[in-house]
Amino acid sequence: MERLAITTFSAIMLIIKQPADLSAYLQKERRSGKKCGFIPTMGALHQGHLSLVNRAKEENELVVCSIFVNPTQFNDPKDFELYPKTLENDIYLLEKAACDVLFLPATVQIYPPGKVHDEWYDLGELESVLEGKYRPGHFQGVCQVVQRLIHIVEPEQLYIGQKDYQQCMVIKKLLSLIHVQTNVVICSTLREPNGLAMSSRNMRLSPEEKGKAAGIFEALSYISQNIQPGTLEHILAQAGNILSRYGLRADYVEIATAADLRLIDNWNGQTEIVALIAAYMGKVRLIDNMILPLNFAGYGN
Ligand code: PAJ
Repeated sequence: MERLAITTFSAIMLIIKQPADLSAYLQKERRSGKKCGFIPTMGALHQGHLSLVNRAKEENELVVCSIFVNPTQFNDPKDFELYPKTLENDIYLLEKAACDVLFLPATVQIYPPGKVHDEWYDLGELESVLEGKYRPGHFQGVCQVVQRLIHIVEPEQLYIGQKDYQQCMVIKKLLSLIHVQTNVVICSTLREPNGLAMSSRNMRLSPEEKGKAAGIFEALSYISQNIQPGTLEHILAQAGNILSRYGLRADYVEIATAADLRLIDNWNGQTEIVALIAAYMGKVRLIDNMILPLNFAGYGN
């Protein structure tokens, strides 16, 4: 177990690398009745991640954040290789946010060699639509790592971002499949001033590309402001045109039911729906979404 104290901050954040050390520490803390909030991440932290830490701080006595770039959820090896790594700055940001524990496992701790790692999760339709369709195997990898992390941390509350809407649904499904009672808290998407959803992958964009990537937010906003009951073909085409104008190459522009992500091409004007986009700016693939209508009191946008 390692301790890291940065003198400018009064809080001390523990950095723990071994799952057994973390379990032992958390067990001890729990004896004094502390509730644990957990934020799993892949690092390259930004304000979006930190908003999850802040929310967890408000609602729990003990906050654990993990950083682990999970190899099994990358369907594209190049994406894994190029995933930004900014550990020193991540530690600085977490200390500043008064995170209590950073769990920093190595791959061998999550996927011990010599053990078979071939679980399969029945995610139903979530596996084959949207991200599931364009990133085969991705959600199985997410489930593999989240199950392992949850078993190590055993948090009372899990904090995840609406930015990854389908992932939120997958994680909820996972928890029900593995019979875990952890409460899932879905937090709103933090955006840059131009509307671009904050993402670790934005670090791979040039300033000019970051400007153009805001076309995704413009397309989602266009949908939210112009959607009418009836056929959705025209509005989806218009949103696609906005993306093209910004030089964004879309994998998909879709509207789905918010509750179960069924794609729809006709809206009754009442069902809560979500508009979802995945698009490339250069070589970087970005995703974003917006719940419609905007005044629906469900997830925050
Ligand atoms: P990562 O992309 O690092 O995201 C960690 C958490 O931060 C996720 O719950 C994500 O939805 C949330 N998040 C990302 N951008 C956000 C933003 N702009 N505003 C608010 N929240 C945001 O998602 C993953 O890691 C991984 O798949 C993981 C769940 C850790 C499993 O490996």
